[in-house]
Order: sequence, then C-alpha cells, then structure tokens
Amino acid sequence: MGCPWVWVFLNMLVLGVESSCDETGVALYDSTRGLLAHALYSQIAMHNDYGGVVPELASRDHIRRVLPLTRQVLTESGCALADIDGIAYTQGPGLAGALLVGAGMARALAYALNIPAVGVHHLEGHLLSPLISDTPPAFPFVALLVSGGHTQLMLVEGVGRYALLGETLDDAAGEAFDKTAQLLGLGYPGGPVLSQLADSGDATRFTLPRPMLHSGDFDFSFSGLKTAVLTLVKKAGLEAAPDIAAAFQAAAVDVLVGKSLAACKHSAALRLVVAGGVGANRRLRAELTARAAQRGIEVFYPKLEFCTDNGAMIAFAGAQRMAQGGITDLWFAVKPRWELATLEAV
Ligand code: KG4
Ligand code: ZN
Repeated sequence: MGCPWVWVFLNMLVLGVESSCDETGVALYDSTRGLLAHALYSQIAMHNDYGGVVPELASRDHIRRVLPLTRQVLTESGCALADIDGIAYTQGPGLAGALLVGAGMARALAYALNIPAVGVHHLEGHLLSPLISDTPPAFPFVALLVSGGHTQLMLVEGVGRYALLGETLDDAAGEAFDKTAQLLGLGYPGGPVLSQLADSGDATRFTLPRPMLHSGDFDFSFSGLKTAVLTLVKKAGLEAAPDIAAAFQAAAVDVLVGKSLAACKHSAALRLVVAGGVGANRRLRAELTARAAQRGIEVFYPKLEFCTDNGAMIAFAGAQRMAQGGITDLWFAVKPRWELATLEAV
C-alpha cells in the first residue's frame, strides 16, 4: 500500500460506492478534474410492491448492480481499474446487509489493486454534496440535512468539523413526506409524488400545525403532523388529497425554513447548505432561497441528481478524507447506526 504522506499531496482518482439503502451508486471523482462519471441504479420499483424497503431484497440487488455500475463508470470516463488511486464506500449508517455489499466489494477491490480504501459516513456524503460544484460554498456554513432517515441542523466548520445544532425527536422530514403520501394512497417513496400532487392543490384550504416552530431550539418533530394529516383525511376524504398534500407540504416547509434561518442567526452564518432527498423539494427550495435572501443569507443546494443517494457524494467525501490522510487499514466493519456529530477531522 502506498505511503499516506505521498498520497496526501498528489492528485487522486477515487472510486465511490454507495449501497446503504435502496440505491446502488458508483462514481469516479478526480481531485483536480472533478467528477468524471457517476452511475446509479434505483431499486424503488422493486420495493414499491411492498410499500417500503425490504432489506434482504435490497442487499441482493446491490450485489447484482455494483460491478456492472463500476464497469459503466470506468467506460464512461475512459479510465482503467489501474488508474484508480483509492476507493471510498459508505460505511454507515444504513441497512447492515446493504452496507456490507459495498464495503466488501470496495475493500476486496482495493486489496486486489493494492490501493487504500476509506469508509465514508453516508450523511457526510450528503452534507458535502453541494461542494461538488464549480461554485462551492466556503466554510463555515449551517447545513440542513433532510433525508428519509435523518433531519438535522449542523454547524459545519470544515471537513470532519460538525457540531449538531438540532435534530428531529421522532420522524425524519422525508419519512413524514413518505408516511403522508401513504395516508393519501400515493406510492413509495412518497416525497416526489406528494410534492407533485401538492402543486395542483390549494395550500390555503386547510391549515396544519407547525410543530416546534417556536420551541426556541433547533429540534424538529414531525410525527404530530402526520397524525393531523390522518385526522384531516378522515374528515375531508381522499377527494381533498391535493389540498391536504399542499397543506402538509406548506407546514413541513415552513418548519424547515423557520428552523434553518434561526440556526443561521444563532451561528451568525451567512451560508446555508441543504442536503438529502427532501432538498429536492421545489417549494422548500423556493421558500428557503427567498426568505434567506431577505436576511442576506445565501443558500446552496446539491444538483438535483445528488440530493438523493448517489455514488458521487461518497467518492467526493472519500477524496476529502483521503486528502486529510484518513486512510484506514484492511480491517473493516459497517456501522448501521452512526452519529454524524461523532466524526472528527483527521
Ligand atoms: O437522502 P435520501 O435519498 O435517502 C436517505 O438517505 O434517507 O432521501 C430520500 C427521501 C425520501 O423520504 C423521499 O420521499 C424524499 O427524500 N424526497 C422528497 C423529494 N424527493 C425525495 N421529499 C420531498 N420532496 C421531494 N421532491
Ligand atoms: Zn441518503
């Protein structure tokens, strides 16, 4: 294995592998040329029949996809296996069996190529994804992480320097979108389809609660909102689904925007980064950008394709970690549960 001190300063081509949940993502990131190629296979259609992710099916499908996707990014980028300098894989949090597929493949390939491998925190991947850009935000910034499994506000001072400001006490924002979509008889995952339906609804017909909006801290709670939707569905019926979807989206977005701006004020931050699947929500983007601008705060979003799970963010985060010398030995274990705030700069 090459000496890490040589590694730190040279150009690096990093293969990134994401397999924490229901998407297999592979990408090649070059530390000077940027993202060279990325490929994704989504298992959404397979899990849709079950109304949610079936872990065992997810693991088996990752096994089927990960090598063809790796070949695809090599072909698209015109690179050979021998050109790769390091491999980054999602080490956690996520589904244990699914994580093991990416981790096992990445570690085995790194061993065969005699190059280093690094396990990446999935949320660090999301958090740094807006930096895969020609105009990345400078540190420090406040980050709103809104995915299917997490809702967190973090103060980010550099790679590995994350302070948790607040998080959800129950459901994640994406989970609230998914559960509300389920109550409205929409498919899985519910976020994109619910937000589409909301666009055709009247957001002013019903008013839903804004949980914890004025709680004075940076924590969230979305489970009460879901219960309020259930009560409303029983009262107004599914004919009112577009208006209920619009009312839910307005309430969820209002809370996310209000808390994010409060966190910026508290941290005296003028930059806000939004990452994770819910960051693709158009109403959230429009409202956050507009209300932040009134306070002189600039908001940065990942490209739409990098909001949901992908290999590019893992390759990118892995490259940052390797640049810091964060290279681990051959021993590996996945971490299905892993707090982002426990990460440290190398
Ligand atoms: O970050 P992600 O791909 O997976 C996790 O790491 O959890 O996020 C997936 C979540 C799902 O809950 C999905 O419903 C939500 O992001 N989502 C959206 C939108 N697109 C995806 N929620 C609201 N509006 C969207 N446009
Ligand atoms: Zn994710």
